[in-house]
Amino acid sequence: MGRPRVYVTRILPEQGLALIADYCDATIWEDELPPPRETILREARDADGLVSLLTDKVDGELLDACPKLRVVSNMAVGYDNIDVPAATARGVLAGNTPGVLTETTADFAFALLMASARRIVEGADYVRAGRWKTWGPMLLMGADIHHATLGLVGLGRIGVEMAKRASGFDMRVLYYDVFRREDLEAAHDITYLPLDELLAQADFVSIHTPLTEETRHLMNRERLARMKPSAILINTARGPIVETEALVEALRDGVIAGAALDVTDPEPLPADHPLVEAPHCLVVPHIASASAVTRGKMAEIAARNLIAGLKGEPLPAGLNNEALGTGRSALPREWEAE
Ligand code: DGY
Repeated sequence: MGRPRVYVTRILPEQGLALIADYCDATIWEDELPPPRETILREARDADGLVSLLTDKVDGELLDACPKLRVVSNMAVGYDNIDVPAATARGVLAGNTPGVLTETTADFAFALLMASARRIVEGADYVRAGRWKTWGPMLLMGADIHHATLGLVGLGRIGVEMAKRASGFDMRVLYYDVFRREDLEAAHDITYLPLDELLAQADFVSIHTPLTEETRHLMNRERLARMKPSAILINTARGPIVETEALVEALRDGVIAGAALDVTDPEPLPADHPLVEAPHCLVVPHIASASAVTRGKMAEIAARNLIAGLKGEPLPAGLNNEALGTGRSALPREWEAE
C-alpha cells in the first residue's frame, strides 16, 4: 500500500513531525522564512494534504492549483489565513489547533500587560545602556496593575483565562463580545459593557477576538480616542484588528499611554517602522503561544488533524467537518489503491 503525500510549510516540533512521518511521505520546507507562494503551489500540486502556518495564505487559487488536496491543517488556533468556505466548497477539510495554547497565550498577554505597565523592558534597556546612576524618586514610574480595570475585547477561551489571571491582582474586569456570556460573568465576576463604554473605563484594554471582516480595524482612530489617556492597549490576537497608523498617532499624540503588541500589521514589522519607534510601545514577534510544551501540542494536533483528513475521518479539531464525504474528500484514496 502506498502512502499519502503531504507538504509541510516549515519544520515543526518533533511531536508533530514524528506522527506525520509514520503515516505519510512528507516534503518539508526547511527554511526559517515561509516558502514563497509559487513554491507552495508547485510543491503541493500533487499533495494529498497540506500543513500550513498562519504565514501561508490558503485560498481558492491554491486549492485549485493543488487538486488532490483533501485536508489543510493549520498549526495555529487563528485561521484567518484560510478561506474555509472555499475549502468546504471543494470538499477539502480544514483544521486548527484550539485549546492547547489558551493558557500559554493568556500568560503572555498578562506578561505584556505587566511589562508595559511597570516599564520593565525600558528599565532593562536603561541599565544596559549604562544610565543607572542612582535610586531616583521619580525614575521610570509606571502604572499600578492591582485594583486597576481590565477591559477584555472578546471573551473566548483566552479572554476567560485573562480574567482569571486578573482576579489574582484584584482587578475589576470588564468585557465586550458580540455574544453576551452571563454564565461566565457570574463564574468569573466580570461585567459586560458595550465596547465604547468599556474603552472609556478600562486602564488596560486587551484584545482577544479573531480577525474577521467585522473586527478588522476594530481599534481605529475613533475607538482609540475613547480610551483613557492613561490606558494601555495589549494585542495578542491579530495585528489588523488595530489600525496601525491610528495607533502610531495615538501613541505619538498621547491619546493613550502605551501599547504592548505581540501581533502587528504588517507582520513582521520592519525595525524602522514608526510603531517600533513610537513612545511607550513594546513590540514582540508573535510569540504568545511559544512555550516549548504548547508548540509541541500544537504540532501534535496539527498532525492528528492532517492524518484524520487523509483517512477520511472527521478532524479532531475541524473547521468544516461537514465537508467530509463531499467533493475531494469523497474521492477514492489513491494511495490505498496502489
Ligand atoms: C495562533 O495560534 O493563532 C497564534 O497566533 C499563534 O500561536
